[in-house]
Amino acid sequence: MNITSATYVISSADYLQCPKADRPEYAFIGRSNVGKSSLINSITQRQKLAKTSAAPGKTQLINHFAIESSSGQKGLKDKWYLVDLPGYGYAKRSLTDRRRWEQMIEHYLRKRENLVNVFVLIDSRHSPQKNDLEFLSNLGKWQVPFTLAFTKADKEKPTVVQRNVKAFLDAMRETWQFLPQSFVTSAEKNVGRDEILTFIENCNNE
Ligand code: GTP
Ligand code: MG
Repeated sequence: MNITSATYVISSADYLQCPKADRPEYAFIGRSNVGKSSLINSITQRQKLAKTSAAPGKTQLINHFAIESSSGQKGLKDKWYLVDLPGYGYAKRSLTDRRRWEQMIEHYLRKRENLVNVFVLIDSRHSPQKNDLEFLSNLGKWQVPFTLAFTKADKEKPTVVQRNVKAFLDAMRETWQFLPQSFVTSAEKNVGRDEILTFIENCNNE
């Protein structure tokens, strides 16, 4: 699949402000600073599409990007949305801000009817984190479909990344009957980009 166009549409504080739900939508979520905005830029090959920052807490709203793609020998065209969401687990945020975030995200995830898949980003450098596992439990409770994307794989040795991925999936096994599809990614080195695009292409064609 080739991305022929990627444009910023709108930043919304509420799911009701989001664009008309007239095409498939894929959202990126995960802890603050895990690399959501960077992965969107890697996938679209547009380094300045989503705003990134070395300091956590950069993305604050629900950001929609309109994507146009073509695929296959016939160059079939598709239109879909990528959504960059604010991260969770940012320690310096006030309780009021955290509650607002929880409300905004829960409403968006539960009510957005064109949401096809949520990519939950997990930092591949760390052992399983409680807040990531708790967030996945909520997705399960709300019946939101998701896949995992382990990020920043360029920052660790492949053996460490593999060990952390395995440990995370093992931790999930304690409560989940089925494990989700997962991707190992690096926005820096464009690792996992093709796999994620193929996944999206297959979902779009279903
Ligand atoms: P918030 O919007 O604050 O929740 O953060 P985010 O999850 O959108 O993270 P962002 O994409 O802004 O990246 C955070 C920092 O990690 C930036 O300094 C990025 O350059 C860096 N980063 C993101 N992905 C990668 C990666 O794959 N490899 C490396 N080496 N650095 C990365
Ligand atoms: Mg961000």
